[in-house]
Amino acid sequence: MIAAKGLHKRYGKTVAVDDLSFEVRPGVVTGFLGPNGSGKSTTMRLMLGLDHGEGEGETLFNGERFTSIRRPMNQVGTLLEAKSLHPTRSARNHLAMLASANGIADARIDRVLDMVGLGPAKRKMPKGYSLGMSQRLGLAQALLGDPHTLMLDEPTNGLDPHGIHWMRDLLKSLAAEGRTIFVSSHLLSEMQLMADELVVVGRGHMIFNGDVDQFVREFTTSTVVVRSPFADAFVSVLEAKGASITEGDDGELVVSDMEIDHVGHLAFTEGIELAELSRRSASLEEAFMSATGAAEQFVAEMPIQTAQTAQTPEGAQHA
Ligand SMILES: Nc1ncnc2c1ncn2[C@@H]1O[C@H](COP(=O)(O)OP(=O)(O)OP(=O)(O)O)[C@@H](O)[C@H]1O
Ligand SMILES: [Mg+2]
Repeated sequence: MIAAKGLHKRYGKTVAVDDLSFEVRPGVVTGFLGPNGSGKSTTMRLMLGLDHGEGEGETLFNGERFTSIRRPMNQVGTLLEAKSLHPTRSARNHLAMLASANGIADARIDRVLDMVGLGPAKRKMPKGYSLGMSQRLGLAQALLGDPHTLMLDEPTNGLDPHGIHWMRDLLKSLAAEGRTIFVSSHLLSEMQLMADELVVVGRGHMIFNGDVDQFVREFTTSTVVVRSPFADAFVSVLEAKGASITEGDDGELVVSDMEIDHVGHLAFTEGIELAELSRRSASLEEAFMSATGAAEQFVAEMPIQTAQTAQTPEGAQHA
């Protein structure tokens, strides 16, 4: 269990983290979401007491501050953004050094290297590692002490599709063993499959803390999809009862403002044959866009001007 209370951090005039309090429960994966620059990495550093300066608040990991834990690697495994790997120390040596400093058995080193798929590359120097391999080594380091809690900042960064899939399965299985998993990511479709709970921030503020399904329900509207050989007649019936209809692909009707059982009941009472009646839930991505749209700091202009159009003199446009 992680309990974070009153986390606050400013860099000059920028408030990077603004009075965040939340709990991360064991046994489930908790996703940490927010647009670029919204304070996720800063929050994670604050939670570990790694940021010096005017950071405020307190985070307890099973009741203890990270900086007071005698052998932190055995309690809380971390993978943060900035990596500090020795460029010419092999992956195995790097982990061996940490293991001996933390009283971790030697056999565990090969176990975690195999777990993250680095077994064959363990004698290689990190300077020859790809981004994905470095991430895997970072994860091996986080897992080394077999900790009850994992805090991972964008662990899927640089992983290939197999690696992303593997990471999802691994984190879910670690959570199922009763561990506490707090993980940030911008891969929302992955997060939808992996996380049960969310902490969502925007510009350092808490936007949402709770269940993933609740987040999607709160920030989107689900719709009902209907197909019928008598679509026109059914549109009139539905509209008369206050539903809003848009026509989707392939003659489907997308119904909003009406529950699915109500739509089904109207089809039955009006004797209108249906070929399809289904609920379409919105995605985590849609909910994220709607929840954090106003909190986005870095908004790209669309469409992006190409070098060619930028150089075209105004008068030459119609030539
Ligand atoms: N060392 C620093 N010095 C000054 N400002 C910083 C520093 N680190 C972060 N910030 C600022 O704090 C805010 C939060 O940054 P942070 O890196 O925590 O965001 P993030 O949510 O992790 O973003 P991303 O999704 O891009 O990783 C930003 O405005 C950033 O510019
Ligand atoms: Mg970050």
